[in-house]
Parts: sequence; C-alpha cells; structure tokens
Amino acid sequence: MYSRPTLQLEPSSRLRIAIQKSGKLAEGSVALLKKCGFRLQPGKNQLLVQDSAMNTDFIFSRDDDIPGFLLNGICDLGIFGSNLLAEVSLRDPAFLKGLTTIMPLGYARCRLSIAVPRDSPAKSIGDLDQMTIATSYPHLLQRFLRENQINCRIVTMHGSVELAPKIGIADGICDLVSSGATLRENGLREMTKVLDSEAVLVGNTDALGKDSQCQIARIMTRIRGILNADSNKYIMLHIDRRNLPLIREILPGCEAPTVLELQGIPDRIAVHVVSPEDIFWDTIEKLKDIGANSILVLPIEKMMD
Ligand code: PRP
Ligand code: ZN
Repeated sequence: MYSRPTLQLEPSSRLRIAIQKSGKLAEGSVALLKKCGFRLQPGKNQLLVQDSAMNTDFIFSRDDDIPGFLLNGICDLGIFGSNLLAEVSLRDPAFLKGLTTIMPLGYARCRLSIAVPRDSPAKSIGDLDQMTIATSYPHLLQRFLRENQINCRIVTMHGSVELAPKIGIADGICDLVSSGATLRENGLREMTKVLDSEAVLVGNTDALGKDSQCQIARIMTRIRGILNADSNKYIMLHIDRRNLPLIREILPGCEAPTVLELQGIPDRIAVHVVSPEDIFWDTIEKLKDIGANSILVLPIEKMMD
C-alpha cells in the first residue's frame, strides 16, 4: 500500500528520486538527471538534494536500499541495477508487484558472474558442486545453480565479496564484474556469467498511478529524448544530386533526409540526416566512394519526436 511517510523533506507534492550515492551507477545517474534539466550538484557527503525549481528531492543512498525505499513509498522513482531488481523480485513477491520497471537506461552495464581464485582447480561450472560461494545476490545465484543442477552452500555478504576466498569464507564468489579489475586485483578469475545487468529506472507502482504521474511522465519523456539522442548522430555532407538514393543504402534509418541547395552549384546538394549511432570509419569511406565530401558527424544533445 502506498503511503508516503513524513520525512524531513519538503511538502509531499514533491517528487522524490533515489539514486546511488557512490559506485558505478552514481556517475551515470547524476549525468542523466542533469541532462534532464535538474540542478543536481551534491556536496561530497550530501545525502539529500532539493531542486525547488523542478519540485523534486533527490535521495542519495546505497543502491541496495533503493528498492525498499520505493516499495515503502519513501521515493517515487529510483535508479539501480537490473540485477538488483531481479534479486529483490525473486526474494519477495511484494517487490515484484510494488515496483514497476519504467525503462532500461543503457549505462552501468556489467554482469553478475561466478569467479574463483586464479589457482582454483575448478574449471567449469560442474566443478563448483559442493563448494561454498559468497554473494550479495543469493536468490539469483540459487536460481542459476538450480538451473544447472549444482549444489553449493551460499554465504550472503553485503559488500567486499571479493575478499571471501582470501579469508577462507568461501571457495568462490558471485558478484558484479565490469572491467574485471576488481577480480584481478583480488587474485580471482571469472568462470561463468549468471546475468547481464544495466541501470534501470524503476517506479513505485502506486505512485505511477497518482498525482505525481504527470511529473513522472515529463521526466520519462526527457529521459527518452536523451537516450534517443545518445543513440543517434547528425550527419551533414555534400553530394551529387543524382547520388541521393545511394545515401539511403549506406545510412539505413534515414527515411527523409533534409536536402539543401548549394549556392551556384546546381548539380550538387547538401544532405542532413539523423542516423543510428553506428557511423564507423567504413561508413564514412562508403560515403566518400559515392562522391560525398564536407562530411560532418555530430553528436545530438536532445531528440524529441
Ligand atoms: C561493483 C562490484 C565490484 C566492482 C566490479 O561495485 O561490486 O566490486 O564494481 O567492477 P570492475 O569489474 O570494473 O572492477 P560498485 O562500484 O557498483 O559498488 P557497490 O558494489 O559497492 O555498489
Ligand atoms: Zn551496490
């Protein structure tokens, strides 16, 4: 049941958004929300930031606490990893009902993986049978082990999981891996992936149906505009008018390019198109091959339909 507790915050008509205080999700979340127009300049240890102009409060906390904040109505929106959403949904059906995934956000991409000490005799997942594995995601790990018909003892830890084999708590770990640096620094080797993860925008299911919905819809529109912009490029080039149809073959997705006259050069035109991001050097070389020049590939800051 959605009932907003009284906090030392502004009146309850304000929207509340919870994001990770520090860690891999934090930077991307602040960057995205700033692009949405929020004034978000938290001090080093500031855990609550209020943007009066946008009628929004930001709560900075451990990502692991955000699903609970959402479920209990402490905040309306939260950003955390899809792995955490999967874990809490497996752990407690209340989370599954009370939280609504609004959209994946495409950053903080990582994977939940099982890793063992570099010199462990375990080579494949079958070798993990009867071993002890430390993790912060026991339900996801349990599901994976069950699916692979492996019996392990699971030790739940809330941080520094990579330490577990070194101090004799476990034979292996199941934790998030991004660059792999943390595993390497702790003498561990990745063995098998359990799940892919990325940042997701999640809402309190009841809040999404209430007054705050208008404000949430506005933020969602802005976020979509930014994600769209990030995955597209604006391309400008000059080309012979007769070669215009060839551009569509090289730049799929550009249905209706803008065509402009070039003063004093009747056979040649300037073409402007928005195209999905994959503009690699070979695309530009293909454009050169059909006689294009003055080619500019520009990032797009915001993009609304
Ligand atoms: C994650 C994860 C690992 C580390 C892996 O921590 O818990 O410790 O990143 O990244 P790497 O493969 O690039 O070294 P995160 O920064 O998300 O903080 P948290 O786990 O404390 O929330
Ligand atoms: Zn975390």
